[in-house]
Amino acid sequence: MGINKKSKLEEIKKHYHDYTSTYLEVVDSAIQSHRSANEELMLDYYFNVMGVKSGMKLLDAGCGVCGPAIYFAKEADIIIDAINISDTQIEIAKHKIEEFGLENKINVICGDYHFLENYYSENDFDIIYFLEAYGHGLNHKKLLESSVSLLKKGGLLYIKDYFQKDLKDMKRVNKVAKLMNKNFAYNLPCLYDTIGHLRRLNFEIVKIGKPEFVDDGGIMSAEFSDKSKIKLFQDENEMFSYADIFELIVRKQ
Ligand SMILES: C[S@@+](CC[C@H](N)C(=O)[O-])C[C@H]1O[C@@H](n2cnc3c(N)ncnc32)[C@H](O)[C@@H]1O
Repeated sequence: MGINKKSKLEEIKKHYHDYTSTYLEVVDSAIQSHRSANEELMLDYYFNVMGVKSGMKLLDAGCGVCGPAIYFAKEADIIIDAINISDTQIEIAKHKIEEFGLENKINVICGDYHFLENYYSENDFDIIYFLEAYGHGLNHKKLLESSVSLLKKGGLLYIKDYFQKDLKDMKRVNKVAKLMNKNFAYNLPCLYDTIGHLRRLNFEIVKIGKPEFVDDGGIMSAEFSDKSKIKLFQDENEMFSYADIFELIVRKQ
């Protein structure tokens, strides 16, 4: 991996080292910006839309403190492998898994999700999911290639994330996107590039759309912004929507 990519991964680690405790002051356990006021409603939604069933093996790519993984593992008799680049979050995740007695169902490791094949076996997972984690990817094409090799035939890939908006004034969009990428160690993805990669990998496209749970209107995200002092806009008059939230549901053929 190049030096540039290495330093970008360090930026992601630093972001979560510096801000995980602030995120956890605002949310219960799922570190996501687009969310429902009631976290369980949102996690239930993912569980159902991904079609999680007992006996399945799941991979949580960019697992945070394993909030979603713990919720899913309590709901069904499943095995979850979880990977995260942030050692700060891994430590918290391990404590939580222990607290809930889920060590036999969730296996969390510190690693880079661009190279899943270095940690896991091919054709092994029923579901791989990225919950607001795909957008940190330094190379989205590589990320998807790595994921497809690990999925079983017929396995499901679920991505929920922000994608850069297309507006007439792209200069304005690009300016805020750049700031977002810097402040959140993100790499705001392009929907069309992502779909192109998925189609070239021969995924069946099942759904591209907005996640169908009622969101909190950005209240918690604003609370995080106040506490962390990370602001993308100087004042309210400047604010506009520069990204769309989408869920992508695709199946390996
Ligand atoms: C916004 S948080 C979402 C966390 C989790 N999915 C949740 O819903 O609580 C993004 C996560 O992706 C992880 N991440 C970012 N880049 C990664 C990489 N290259 N490999 C593994 N994890 C990564 C971060 O450390 C963080 O845990």
